[in-house]
Amino acid sequence: MNTLRDIEPAGKRVLVRVDFNVPMNEAGAITDDLRIRTVLPTLRSLLDRKARVIVCTHMGRPKGQRVDKYSLAPVAAHLARLLGQPVPLAADCIGPAAEAAVAALADGDICMLENLRFHSHEEKNDPEFSRQLAALADVYVNDAFAVSHRAHASVVGVTEYVREKAAGFLLQQEIEYFHRAIDNPQRPLVAIVGGAKVSGKLEALRNMLARVDKMIIGGAMANTFLKSQGYEVGASKVEDDLLDTAADLLRHARERGIKIYLPVDVIAADRFAPDAICKQVTIQDIPTGWMALDIGPASVICFTEVLADAKTLVWNGPMGAFEMDAFARGTMALAHAVAASHALSVTGGGDSNAAITLSGEAANISYMSTGGGAFLELMEGKRLPGIEALD
Ligand code: 3PG
Repeated sequence: MNTLRDIEPAGKRVLVRVDFNVPMNEAGAITDDLRIRTVLPTLRSLLDRKARVIVCTHMGRPKGQRVDKYSLAPVAAHLARLLGQPVPLAADCIGPAAEAAVAALADGDICMLENLRFHSHEEKNDPEFSRQLAALADVYVNDAFAVSHRAHASVVGVTEYVREKAAGFLLQQEIEYFHRAIDNPQRPLVAIVGGAKVSGKLEALRNMLARVDKMIIGGAMANTFLKSQGYEVGASKVEDDLLDTAADLLRHARERGIKIYLPVDVIAADRFAPDAICKQVTIQDIPTGWMALDIGPASVICFTEVLADAKTLVWNGPMGAFEMDAFARGTMALAHAVAASHALSVTGGGDSNAAITLSGEAANISYMSTGGGAFLELMEGKRLPGIEALD
């Protein structure tokens, strides 16, 4: 795979696919710019080397329509502030508006194309749309790890039509950390898996169980595992159709000597609300009609001990409903424990990253992946089409 170091970009038009699908609040302000900041080394390297940089990305799921709230105007403005140079936004990603924006670039200039998903052809990996994108540039760079699991035109199709293609620094870094954490880890390797549903992470759980030495399971998905072992979990969120699957996973892990750690206590609440009445109980004592919304302090101690001798940690998914203060302590405590460990720590997924940022520990994690779905697909053992297309 070519990298940025293999190309000579001076004077060339370089199309850089990034994933600036960043979270925004109601007022249209960016609430987390990790995905933008992490691409700056690639953009600066190209600009310093006098390339003419054309940035393209999707935002949200506008389903092939022009939807104002998914315009990249705030993103282009933010990028301009971070780079300290203008980033004009072309009103479209192909056609006359895009061509004019590219034609106006001098060496060392940068522009951004409007949301790729305003065209339905993007998600269909349409060859003609791919060709039109490719025609804007001499070189294509993929620095969009977080969307590299999508076989879309700007990720896969475009690579068929460009003369030169390369991986950006972020993509390279994501691949390298994942390799160190999962393909070739120092052991013991401990996975921490949380979040709402077993169903969304079933393949990741299966694949990771074949690789890890230990696995911690928290979050609402732990309820399904606990119930499969005969615990009464009250009104907690449970996927009843997956009880047998959960029991099978636990049995297989036991047979192979993989240790799985489930919560031993929880914060139970009388309803799913920030002002719910809540109490700390063992998993044997969840009151009828109450729901587990966070792991409890005994689980935190237990999980922290599991982390103590880990050499590698991979974390995806929070331990509870951390977006509500009352149920954030378990996830925050685990973030501190991961940060304090001596292991290589790699985390991924929007919720885990948001929780780590909230805990103030972002600087103490070895690597925070920008991928959500892409990170999960790597955990599932899949190969990503966007990465394969660069080979
Ligand atoms: C993400 O946020 O995971 C990526 O930007 C991909 O977005 P998508 O799930 O809408 O394809």
